[in-house]
Amino acid sequence: MKRRNFLKNSGLATAGVLSAPALTSCEDAPASAAQLSAPVVQPIVICTWDFHNASAKAWEILQKGGTALDAVEAGVKVEEDDVNNQTVGTGGRPDRDGNVTLDACIMDHAGQCGAVLALQHIANPISVARKVMEDTPHVMLVGQGAEQFAYEKGFEKVNLLTEKSKAEWLEWKKTSAYKPIINIENHDTIGMLAIDENGHMAGGCTTSGMAYKMAGRVGDSPIIGAGLFVDNEVGGATATGVGEEVVRTVGSFLIVELMRQGKSPQEACEEGVRRIMEKNKDKLDFQIGFIAMNMKGETGSYCIQPGFTYREYSENGHINHPSEHFL
Ligand code: GLY
Repeated sequence: MKRRNFLKNSGLATAGVLSAPALTSCEDAPASAAQLSAPVVQPIVICTWDFHNASAKAWEILQKGGTALDAVEAGVKVEEDDVNNQTVGTGGRPDRDGNVTLDACIMDHAGQCGAVLALQHIANPISVARKVMEDTPHVMLVGQGAEQFAYEKGFEKVNLLTEKSKAEWLEWKKTSAYKPIINIENHDTIGMLAIDENGHMAGGCTTSGMAYKMAGRVGDSPIIGAGLFVDNEVGGATATGVGEEVVRTVGSFLIVELMRQGKSPQEACEEGVRRIMEKNKDKLDFQIGFIAMNMKGETGSYCIQPGFTYREYSENGHINHPSEHFL
C-alpha cells in the first residue's frame, strides 16, 4: 500500500464489501461514458473515517439487491443515531449558543439531489434531505422551513443535545472567548458513496458541523458539489473536514471533474487537497479529507491534518496521515 494511500484496502474482505471492478476491460483504458455507465456486477460502498457500522448497514442492503440510494441513507443514519458520535446527528456538538443544528445532503445516479441546512430537533437529516429530493421541486430547505417540512413528513421532534455534549459546551464557554474551535473534534462528518448491482451510484453526507460554530453557520456537507457530488457517468466524491475550505474549492465537484478528465480517484483526491493547500500556505491548521470512487469501483482518499505545513507537503510529496477510513 502506498504511504499516501490511507484507504485501508486490506479491510475489503473483512468488511464484507466487494471491490473488484466488473469493468476490468476498461482497467487500463480511458473509459468512455458508455463504458462507465454500464452496470457493475458487484456492489461497493465506502465511507469516510472508521464508521464500520455505517458501511456494514449499507452493505447489508446492497448485498440483498437494494439500491445505492437506500444503502447510503440507511448507512449514514447509523451514525446520525449514534449518541456517542459527537460530530453527526443526535449527540452532535452544538453551536456556540447551545443549539444542535444538522446539515445533510443526498444525491442519486440520475443527478437528483436534496439537502437540509441548519436543521434542528430532527434525528435523521439525511432522510429529510431525501424527502426534499423526492417530494418537493426544490433541492435545499433551511432552518425552520426544513424543520416544518420534516414535521409535515412525519418526523418527530427530538432533543439532539445530549448531556455529554451539553456539559462539554458549558465547559467550553468558560474559556472560549466565544470563538468556534476548528477541528476540536479531530474528525467529523460521514460521507458515503455506494454503487448497487444495477450500476447506480448514490451518495450521502451528514454532519452536525463545526463544534461551537456561529449560529447559522453552514459548512460544505449539505452543499451539492462541495460536500458531495455524484455523476453516474464518472463517479462520486465526498468530503470531511473544515467545510469552509471545501466550499471555496467546490471540492467534491472538482474531484469528479478531475476523474472525468482521466485522473484516478486517488489522483483526483490528492489534487483536490493540493488546491486547498495552495490557497492556505500560511495557515494549514485544519483538517480536510476527500474520498472518491469511479464507476469501475476504484477508490481513492486523501487527507491533511493540522500541523502539516505546505512546505512539508511540497518537499515530501506526501502526508503521513494518522487516520484511516475503511471500506
Ligand atoms: N465538514 C463539515 C463542516 O464543515 O460542517
